Amino acid sequence: MNLTLRVWRQRNSTAPGKFVEYRAGDISPDMSFLEMLDIVNEGLIKRGDDPIAFDHDCREGICGTCGMVINGVAHGPLPATTTCQLHMRHFRDGQVITIEPWRARPFPVIKDLVVDRSAFDRVIQSGGYISVGTGGTPDGNTIPIPKPDADLSMDAAACIGCGACVAACKNASAMLFVAAKVSHLNILPQGKAEKDRRVLNMVRSMDQEGFGNCTVMGSCEAVCPKEISLDFISRMNRDFLKALWRDKG
Ligand code: SF4
Ligand code: FES
Repeated sequence: MNLTLRVWRQRNSTAPGKFVEYRAGDISPDMSFLEMLDIVNEGLIKRGDDPIAFDHDCREGICGTCGMVINGVAHGPLPATTTCQLHMRHFRDGQVITIEPWRARPFPVIKDLVVDRSAFDRVIQSGGYISVGTGGTPDGNTIPIPKPDADLSMDAAACIGCGACVAACKNASAMLFVAAKVSHLNILPQGKAEKDRRVLNMVRSMDQEGFGNCTVMGSCEAVCPKEISLDFISRMNRDFLKALWRDKG
């Protein structure tokens, strides 16, 4: 396949960025999107040019490190798929592909397609953990958890923290991410002791980081590679209101 790439190049967070056009020639349809970028970068390095900076780690769809906006869609055209798991067979020979970083004020561009997602880390630090002693694995296994609760918690825990939900939202809302992280702990008995404090602190931290409000457009759910459901946002809103009521009381 031969493709034309329009890639966002930006030297650092303060430099102005611009789209630069590159040719990606002899690309196998079986390559992943990141492997295609590797080939383009090898050509740039051979010519003495600066390679395109992009984030990646596992390349197996599990770490949440990769992410870019491909032809206007966070993680590209294939639903429920991270950028690293997207293959070139989903594009047409001769296609023009526009590649941009996540665009949201709480995710400033570090370089080219790499953004700073440490805001997510700070939200997690504010309450995305269990601090009560839960013992070892055998102790954990002795706590009976209804199967529907275990399944629901696992669905929420599938969030890999990639940030596509924020990038897709016109308000740069992080509600889907925070709702997943709050819910997967709040649903389990081990997480209930800190339930109120967790939701109040994580929502406060999310607001302080500058993420916008949810207006239930659903674009987050549409691009989420782990298909995290909007239902978790409703669940978090309920937990938040109850915690606020008890806190005021
Ligand atoms: S909710 Fe989905 S899109 Fe948002 S950070 Fe988690 S996995 Fe990524
Ligand atoms: S590189 Fe880990 S999810 Fe894509």
